[in-house]
Amino acid sequence: MTSKPTCGAGSMPEPAMRPAAGTPVCAIADLPDGGGRMFVFAAESGEFRLLVLRSGARCLGYENRCPHFGIPLAARNEHLILKPHESVSCNTHYARFRWEDGYCDSGDCVGESLPAVPLDVIDGVVCFA
Ligand code: FES
Repeated sequence: MTSKPTCGAGSMPEPAMRPAAGTPVCAIADLPDGGGRMFVFAAESGEFRLLVLRSGARCLGYENRCPHFGIPLAARNEHLILKPHESVSCNTHYARFRWEDGYCDSGDCVGESLPAVPLDVIDGVVCFA
C-alpha cells in the first residue's frame, strides 16, 4: 500500500483495518442526538479509531484521523468540537469537517475528508456495516 500525500503533513501511516461488518460499537441511546463520540478498536494492524456522529435515528461514521497530521480529532470525548448536525472540528489546528460527509471546508486540509465508515443501527445497536 502507498501513503496518500496530504496538505502540510507529508505522508501519513496507513490506518489499521476496520473491524468486520456486524461488530457492535455502542447502543444508539448512549449517543445524544446531535452528539458524537470516539471509539478505539484493537486490530492486528494497530488501533482503528472511529468517530460516530448521531442525527436522530441515523449514525454517521468516520475514521477519527484528521487528514492534516493523521491524528485523532480530540484526545478525549469531552474535547470534541461539535456543531450539532453541522460540523466537527479538529482540536489541534481547528480544521472543520462537514457533519454529513466529513468534507473539510475550512482549515489546513480544505478539500480533503474524514474517510467515511459505513454504520448500521440494528435493534438500537450501532455496528459496522
Ligand atoms: S491536525 Fe491540524 S487540523 Fe487536525
